Amino acid sequence: MKILVTGVAGYIGSHAALELLNAGHEVHGFDNLSNSSEEAVRRVRELTGKPLRFEKLDLLDAPGLGRLLKEGFDAVMHFAGLKAVGESVEKPELYKRNNVDGSANLLAAMEAAACRRLVFSSSCTVYGEVKKNPVDENHPRGAVNPYGQTKLDVENLCLDLARRRPGWRIALLRYFNPVGAHESGRIGEDPRGVPNNLMPFVMQTAVGRRDKVRVFGNDYPTPDGTGVRDYIHVVDLALGHLAALDRLDAFAGAQAVNLGTGRGASVLEVIAAAARASGRPIPYEILPRRPGDSAAIWAEPTLAREKLGWRAERGLDRMCADHWRWQKNNPDGYGV
Ligand code: NAD
Ligand code: UFG
Repeated sequence: MKILVTGVAGYIGSHAALELLNAGHEVHGFDNLSNSSEEAVRRVRELTGKPLRFEKLDLLDAPGLGRLLKEGFDAVMHFAGLKAVGESVEKPELYKRNNVDGSANLLAAMEAAACRRLVFSSSCTVYGEVKKNPVDENHPRGAVNPYGQTKLDVENLCLDLARRRPGWRIALLRYFNPVGAHESGRIGEDPRGVPNNLMPFVMQTAVGRRDKVRVFGNDYPTPDGTGVRDYIHVVDLALGHLAALDRLDAFAGAQAVNLGTGRGASVLEVIAAAARASGRPIPYEILPRRPGDSAAIWAEPTLAREKLGWRAERGLDRMCADHWRWQKNNPDGYGV
């Protein structure tokens, strides 16, 4: 199939593009490079030995999107968006404009070009305050920060569009916590500045860029008192997108599916696994809880198995080994 990938230079988009190319799809991608480097696209070409067309384009450029979609695509995978929770609290308008208005532009350009098959990057953040684990797709939705609100808003745009226009097939994939990297160690997550997320911070500590990991709270009602999350290998996540693409015709309009492993790991378990993978000690200190964090969340992954025929295969040790290879070989990320 001929697939358009938005946010193709980003962490998840680059891994998805690689798996799409390896599966024989024709891939065209765009990105505004606001949080990424074109070097990621070059490395995907190098790893696959296949052409990957890239264009620098912004979701807010509606005429540009219209022109591109008119080229004719079988489906779109939509990764482009801003994702920093803290920044979204400081700049809620920016997040709304970029993520919600930008996605509305994309949907309009798709409709105008009669391209009605979409795989969208949603997030388990749409479950808001978690009432009970594991979380299934029927858990009530809510937003606990402006970033989460943008995911809810785009899900709603998609649900509404699919109700009004019966030809649409949309997979709203709700990711849990993506970590790891392609096993080549050539592409991976390259956060700008100090990482907000646990795994990149842990790996930058292992490689010597940070002194110690700050563990945000050890007084949660979890087995070791630290926060529990459902970490999922980014390659499993990318393969989940391919499975969704293959099964899109079985979607009734727009439907949500969790992409997680169904298993939770605590902060201290992640640090221990990363120390094993890197063979290096990873010092840490316990700090107070981070405002807004929940104690624990992990996925009920059954729907993905039933509907997509997909399940996550890679465990925490593999996630850490692959993330470490990327970090060790590219201590400064893409360096551009
Ligand atoms: P990322 O920042 O690495 O990738 C997003 C890409 O989108 C970046 O390359 C950025 O430059 C691009 N972009 C942003 N705004 C754009 C715009 N207006 N026009 C064109 N390009 C634009 O992030 P990621 O981790 O790869 O996340 C991909 C998607 O998955 C995002 O929508 C994110 O919200 C969602 N998601 C991520 C996580 C996670 O923890 N990484 C979890 C759940 C959902
Ligand atoms: N943590 C630390 N120290 C750190 C960073 C995180 O102890 O330096 C802890 C957190 O308190 C939490 C766990 O590690 O218990 C995971 O934190 P992350 O920041 O890596 O991930 P979150 O689950 O808080 O949030 C992430 C994204 C959100 C997204 C959510 C679900 O930041 O945008 O996953 O996909 F919505």
